[in-house]
Amino acid sequence: MRTSMDDADALAGLRLLVAGGDLAAVQVVGARMAALGADATALAGDIDALARAAESGRPSAVLALDAVEAPLRARLDPLGLHHAPLVIGLDALAAADGELGHVAAGRLRALVESRALKARQIELEAVVTEQALDRRRDTEAALQDSLHRLLHAAGYRDDNTYEHTQRVAGLAARLARELGLPDREVTLVLHGAPLHDIGKIAVPDSILLKPGPLTPEEFEVIKSHPALGARVLAGGGSDLLHTAEAIARHHHERWDGDGYPSGLAGDAIPVAARLVHLADVFDVLVHERPYKESWTVEAAAAEIARGAGTDFDPDAARAFARIGPEGWHQEAR
Ligand SMILES: [Fe+2]
Ligand SMILES: [Fe+2]
Repeated sequence: MRTSMDDADALAGLRLLVAGGDLAAVQVVGARMAALGADATALAGDIDALARAAESGRPSAVLALDAVEAPLRARLDPLGLHHAPLVIGLDALAAADGELGHVAAGRLRALVESRALKARQIELEAVVTEQALDRRRDTEAALQDSLHRLLHAAGYRDDNTYEHTQRVAGLAARLARELGLPDREVTLVLHGAPLHDIGKIAVPDSILLKPGPLTPEEFEVIKSHPALGARVLAGGGSDLLHTAEAIARHHHERWDGDGYPSGLAGDAIPVAARLVHLADVFDVLVHERPYKESWTVEAAAAEIARGAGTDFDPDAARAFARIGPEGWHQEAR
């Protein structure tokens, strides 16, 4: 047997906005909600006025009368995101026990509490997602730092200067952007490309820094650097190391399949490696090496155009052509 004390406590702690088009009607319902223990405000007006009151008052729920329920919900939460105040139709509530008694009150409280739980859940999910992103950023920053140190170490005994690795990475990332690759992939190319020749740390100086032409045997030793570099970078389990490994292994493959070490052709060559290959050839051409003079930027660009479809991915060569003389000079500096 319920007592009036039960009724008076049924909605304690809830702040309700009773909203409708007719003042007398909202006042009747408001008084009933207050009798059930709610802190109830009764308001009659048009949808604009009711929506403003709901938004500024932040009630536990809006109890909507007559025809205002659907338009008010559409107005307060057009995308159904459940961030706005909860709108409950009076009809649905009254149907619970035919009148606004303790059954309706229990249902109202349950609706308010489940909405609060849902909002809390959405909040927690956002926090967890943000934390996961933070962790990925931290891990990648630490990894980039380690790779950078490795690069500096390699620079002490390589014909490839640190500046060469940065220029190749910059041009390869620019080509990736020019080809419309997603931002994430552009970033992976930018940070993976500098390590393309890391395998050269295993090639003796007598071969690596030899001023004259190489013997066939010496060239075979040079040709081992992609596989050696890939081995250094293999098995890391991150997108960045995975990209860096693919670049190191395949940056001397040619579009027509005549490159090394795997003789891959066309699309079978990872796109990051195709871009680094082109950028690497361009950069080597426009800078002096122990075994060659530097070419002009225009002569190097003509060489890239000549190699489209044989040495280079034709799409990459077209992207390079689109960069134009001003861009080539920028990238060569
Ligand atoms: Fe190389
Ligand atoms: Fe290189």
